[in-house]
Amino acid sequence: MSKVQIVPSILSADLTRLGEQVREAEAAGADRIQVDVMDGHFVPNLTFGPGMVAAVRSLTDLPIEAHLMVEHPDLFIQMFARAGATLIIVQVEATTSLYRTVQRIKDLNVKAAVAINPATPVESLREIARYLDMVNVMTVEPGFGGQAFIPHSPDKVRRVRDLAPDLEIEVDGGIDAETAPLVVPAGATVLVAGNAVFGFKPGVAAGIRAIRDAVG
Ligand code: DX5
Repeated sequence: MSKVQIVPSILSADLTRLGEQVREAEAAGADRIQVDVMDGHFVPNLTFGPGMVAAVRSLTDLPIEAHLMVEHPDLFIQMFARAGATLIIVQVEATTSLYRTVQRIKDLNVKAAVAINPATPVESLREIARYLDMVNVMTVEPGFGGQAFIPHSPDKVRRVRDLAPDLEIEVDGGIDAETAPLVVPAGATVLVAGNAVFGFKPGVAAGIRAIRDAVG
């Protein structure tokens, strides 16, 4: 399997210096940027819309993933694709016709991924996995940055790996230099990190380096 990818989430970025922060992450070897989209319904927080994806698009050539933590994701897929998202992640719990939602994303020439919350069974991915570019295993309850990694997550990642041997598996929530080495051997290939990158006191580049070094 190729090198583990590191995806900084701008949820924890200093938005008054977004350009600087994204460019620093890019220079330090970030593989893409995550924009967390929260609607105040699916999760108890409000964050960014397509305008933020467009802003990040203007700052970097890195791929951008939009993680839609929203009810009725079908309503928003096209606007995030137009804004420049290269990968759209929808939550399995927010959809009733997941196959159609995934096809909608792919019809726009955007990569498609599905996220599962901590209490959502791995089995919910079984019929859709073959159509996906990636699965996102939430390792915290979505809604806020800087939360503690849920300890049983590596077991869950292992079960997703068994179900989908060739799929990219992203982990998201509480990932840092301590927890990354727990999930990579279990099968995670993509590490989202917000607080451990943009909230890392020695700086963004040092945060990325610490995670990279921890997973070898
Ligand atoms: C949680 C978000 C995460 C978050 C990760 O609701 O989906 O992407 O930004 O942040 P950290 O790394 O701070 O847990």
